[in-house]
Amino acid sequence: MFTLHNGDCREYMKTLQPDSVDLVLADQPYPELKGGTKFMNGGVASRINESNSVGDIWNASLEWMDDAWRISKFGMMVFCTHHSVDTVKQKFRDNAIALITWVKRNTPNPVNNVPKYTTEFIWVFSKTSGLVWRNLSTHYDIPMLQAGCMATERILNKDGTTFHPTQKPELLIRQLLKCNPKSVIDPFMGTGTTGAACIQMDIDFIGCENDPKYFPAAEKRIKSAALQPGLFTPSNNRVHWTGGESPANLSLFPAEVIPPAKVTRKSPRQ
Ligand SMILES: C[S@@+](CC[C@H](N)C(=O)[O-])C[C@H]1O[C@@H](n2cnc3c(N)ncnc32)[C@H](O)[C@@H]1O
Repeated sequence: MFTLHNGDCREYMKTLQPDSVDLVLADQPYPELKGGTKFMNGGVASRINESNSVGDIWNASLEWMDDAWRISKFGMMVFCTHHSVDTVKQKFRDNAIALITWVKRNTPNPVNNVPKYTTEFIWVFSKTSGLVWRNLSTHYDIPMLQAGCMATERILNKDGTTFHPTQKPELLIRQLLKCNPKSVIDPFMGTGTTGAACIQMDIDFIGCENDPKYFPAAEKRIKSAALQPGLFTPSNNRVHWTGGESPANLSLFPAEVIPPAKVTRKSPRQ
C-alpha cells in the first residue's frame, strides 16, 4: 500500500498518529546550503548546475523533524551535507547511532575555488528497537546519477537537462532500506526514488512532495515501478491520494490494463 500526498509535509505529518510509520527516510532540502556550490553536471552534456543552491530554493529548515520523530515508530534517517551535519545531529543527539557516508566518486569538479565534495551524509536516529541496523554499513560508494544523453536512471527534460537537481540513486536508497522496515515515509519525495525502492522491496510507502512539477513525476515513476514484472500485486493497484488536485483512493491502473498478478513474491526481508 502506498499513499502519496501533494502538499507540505510539515502540515501533513501533523495529521498522522504517533509511532505510525516504522521509518522516516528524509532526503530533506539541505539546510545551511545557502548559496550552494556550483559544479559541472556529470555526463556527456556537461553544463554548470546553478540549482545546487537547494537550501535557497526550498527555504530549508529543520522544523519538520519534530513531527517526523513523533510519527516514527523505530527511527529516522536524515540526509545532510557537511554544512549541517552538526545541527541535524543536535536535534536528537541522544538517539544518533550512526553517521553514514555516501561517497560519490564521480562528483564533477567544482567551478569555484573549493574542494571537490565527494561525500554526503545520512544520520541514523534510533527511537526504539525494531529495525535491523546491523544490516547497514557506514560507507556506501555509489556514483551520483549522470545527466546527459547517456543517462539511464536520471530523469531528464526534453532538452537533456536534469529534471530534478537532487535525484538520488535507487541503489543507495535500497541499501538504507536493508534495516528492514515494513513501512516508510519520505516527507520530501522529489522524483519518488524512495517510493520506487519501497515497491521493489515490498515495503509500504507514504510520500509527500509539495512541488506541483515533481509530484506527478513521482506518481508516474511509482506506477512504473509497480508495473515491473514480478512486482505487481492486486494490493499494489491501490494508491491513496491526498492533497493537491488528485482524487482519493484511486486505482493505479484501470481494469483493462492491469497486468497479470504474480502469484508469489520473494520478499527481501530476512
Ligand atoms: C532533496 S529533494 C528530494 C529528492 C528525492 N530524494 C529524489 O531522489 O528525487 C527534496 C524535495 O523536497 C521537496 N520539498 C521541499 N519542501 C517541502 C515541504 N515542506 N513539503 C514537501 N516537500 C517539500 C522539494 O520540492 C524537493 O523535491
